Amino acid sequence: MTTFPERRMRRLRRTETLRRLVRETRLSVDRLIYPLFVQWGTGIKEEISSMPGQYRFSLDLLEKEIAEIASLGIPGVLLFGIPKKKDETGSEAWDPHGIVQEAVRVAKKAAPELLVITDVCLCEYTSHGHCGVIENGEVLNDATLPLLQKSAVSHTEAGADMVAPSDMMDGRVSAIRSSLDEKGFSHIPIMAYSAKYASAFYGPFREAAESAPQFGDRKAYQMDPSNGREALLEVLTDVAESADIVMVKPALSYLDVIARVREEVRLPLAAYNVSGEYSMVKAAARLGWIEEKRLTLEIITGIVRAGADIVITYHAKDLAAWLK
Ligand code: PBG
Repeated sequence: MTTFPERRMRRLRRTETLRRLVRETRLSVDRLIYPLFVQWGTGIKEEISSMPGQYRFSLDLLEKEIAEIASLGIPGVLLFGIPKKKDETGSEAWDPHGIVQEAVRVAKKAAPELLVITDVCLCEYTSHGHCGVIENGEVLNDATLPLLQKSAVSHTEAGADMVAPSDMMDGRVSAIRSSLDEKGFSHIPIMAYSAKYASAFYGPFREAAESAPQFGDRKAYQMDPSNGREALLEVLTDVAESADIVMVKPALSYLDVIARVREEVRLPLAAYNVSGEYSMVKAAARLGWIEEKRLTLEIITGIVRAGADIVITYHAKDLAAWLK
């Protein structure tokens, strides 16, 4: 191998034009998905205090926001709903006129080309805040599947382009696939939250979606942050269950998992740059401790370099403007 002084690694770093030429990772708005929170009411665009710059929208104001997102060139949104009333089973989750179903209709009308993806989970809708049916203090797996199936079908009937189950019940991808197929939605892809960890980085989201568990935690269904091999198994089971896109979540503390999954599967891979990752950047920027734009670009570059094809991020609108 050629080495110093013949080899000088700095030669290709000398000017911006050279650096541009040899750049390995290029960010593009094409990879981004923007998460959005919707709620009932009118005239509401309420800032989420733990997520500066992110809002909860009522349906009447959603239209304008959707038009803006589409005009920025962002390919898709991921919708989360805050229901009128939470109950034991989370019944608004599959109500044909529930908040997310109505939001899908508004979004598809406002920007037909924009991909409208829905999060399929019960935690925003249940009074106990868990992602499934509870019996004797435990989240039941198999009894939860039919509720997820109904939710996914109702989202799709409302016009969703893709569904994204985030509950972490075993078998939910094949359950949802078979229900969609049965209802004539065999063309609708499933983006599975395959390796979703029980993470403290979801804190701000739970404030935004009012979805914190009222007892216990999610460790009996979401993954242990210590485990990497297990993430591969989770992903491979979702591939076997015919997921169309697999996901690793969160992103920043799991870049190794993203890289390993990238090596292992051929399907598109999404990474979710979650609420806590976003809010840390915002907080440090407010304090003047970091340069927000450079830091954000570096974070998203890192996630893409690790192997993510798609990045779900609250920074999407900022990024779209910066990458123009
Ligand atoms: C619902 C869900 C959560 C997130 C996405 N879908 C929260 C959770 O599992 O507690 C987190 C997203 C974020 O933190 O940005 N299960």
